[in-house]
Amino acid sequence: MAKDYFKIQGLGGKKILRGEVQINGAKNAVLKAMAAAILFKDEVKILNAPYTEDVKKTVTLLETAGAKVEVSEDAVNHSHVLKINTATLHNTDIDPEIAKSMRASVVMTGPMLSRYGKVSLVQPGGCVIGARPIDQFIEGYKKMGATVEFKDDVSIITAPEGGLRGAEIIFHLQTVGGTETLMMAAVLAKGVTVLKNCAMEPEITSLAEYLTSCGAKIEGIGTTTLTITGVEPLVSAGKPYVTIPDRIEAGSFLLLAALCGDDVKITTCEPKHLEVLISMLMDSGVPLQIGTDFIHVKNNGAVKNSELKTFNVRTHEYPGFATDLQPQVSVFLTQASGESIIFETIFEGRFKYTEDLIKMGANITIMNPREIMVKGGAELKAPEAEELRAHDIRAGFAVVMAALVASGESVINNIYYIDRGYERLEERLCALGAKVERVKGE
Ligand code: EPU
Repeated sequence: MAKDYFKIQGLGGKKILRGEVQINGAKNAVLKAMAAAILFKDEVKILNAPYTEDVKKTVTLLETAGAKVEVSEDAVNHSHVLKINTATLHNTDIDPEIAKSMRASVVMTGPMLSRYGKVSLVQPGGCVIGARPIDQFIEGYKKMGATVEFKDDVSIITAPEGGLRGAEIIFHLQTVGGTETLMMAAVLAKGVTVLKNCAMEPEITSLAEYLTSCGAKIEGIGTTTLTITGVEPLVSAGKPYVTIPDRIEAGSFLLLAALCGDDVKITTCEPKHLEVLISMLMDSGVPLQIGTDFIHVKNNGAVKNSELKTFNVRTHEYPGFATDLQPQVSVFLTQASGESIIFETIFEGRFKYTEDLIKMGANITIMNPREIMVKGGAELKAPEAEELRAHDIRAGFAVVMAALVASGESVINNIYYIDRGYERLEERLCALGAKVERVKGE
């Protein structure tokens, strides 16, 4: 793991960033589309793919399973094209080293089990933001007739004779990965599967629509009940999956621009996936212009951060306020005027980054593991003789935001996490006028 770090020159509260930032395809959509390639007889082509560390790892996961993956650059759209052919797939033991470092590897169990009848996986790891169990996946597979054996920390899952069988599965909580995985498992199962209390994130809808366009039978797309009738392996016949814009990346840049930007246009994004955040920022006083595929933070330099109003945040499954924007909105609220309560309902360990913000002078009180109180108007400073760190992907972006707002030079370690979700972040920030340097580690 590279030990690169960022050196960031703070803007000392000035709102001077200017320019355009183009939003990439969604990491959390492309990883699932890559796993879905296992459901297909022929090659699946994925357009507008970001090329983050997690995408690279998923390429390796597919290759170690025996699939053929080709990655090329699409210079016009600053994105990547992936071509995945799983006809030669022969190994259904998901690479343990990668699974331990990336939670999304669990999603591969669905298509592998329904296509090949067996799969094994070590307990997946990933961002340290809570316990993140896989019980809902395991219970779902059992309902579809699979047997599950646990050996040390490996789950060995075997479909019944003749393949997975349709079943009624009621999720105990809304899980994004669980919904996507069991939906893919059901696509090739025998009979009808009804999934209830499903998550409704746009990445799930996008995946379901693509699978349906290639022969899958999925009803109720975009709702909490999905009814899936099993079919034969899918055929893309050259129809590509076009990765939807990354709503979390767009929301992250929007919050950054709200604090540090004068005139920043966030383009190639999908504002309708960010309605709650946009409405909160508009009510707070951030001057925004919204188009069908852009968000323009315009003439924001004329509005002092101390003139912005605070608001309370309660994270929620889509279409509520995304947990993946919770650390970034906290930084925003340290600068606005007033007090806010932030309540994290999805993950129980997602406030670690507050230690770093407090070191920089933020006024944050941890009420309990799920709730913090933020008092606005804090003057942030780069901590003297201390370094900051990215605790996870989104906390990493939040600390970068705080370092840009602050005065002085900050050093941020562990930026490997940031690279997992944001491609070439330093280049994109520098293009807006920020001073962010990547220093190469060993
Ligand atoms: N959960 C269980 N049992 C399960 C599955 C989930 O208890 O079997 C719990 C989780 O522990 C969590 C809650 O359900 O408390 C929701 O988890 P979910 O399954 O929805 O999350 P995920 O699929 O693991 C995806 C994103 C996350 C994002 C969450 C919530 C990907 C690759 N990851 O994770 O993204 O925070 O949904 O929206 O799609 C990120 O991008 O930084 C990131 C962490």
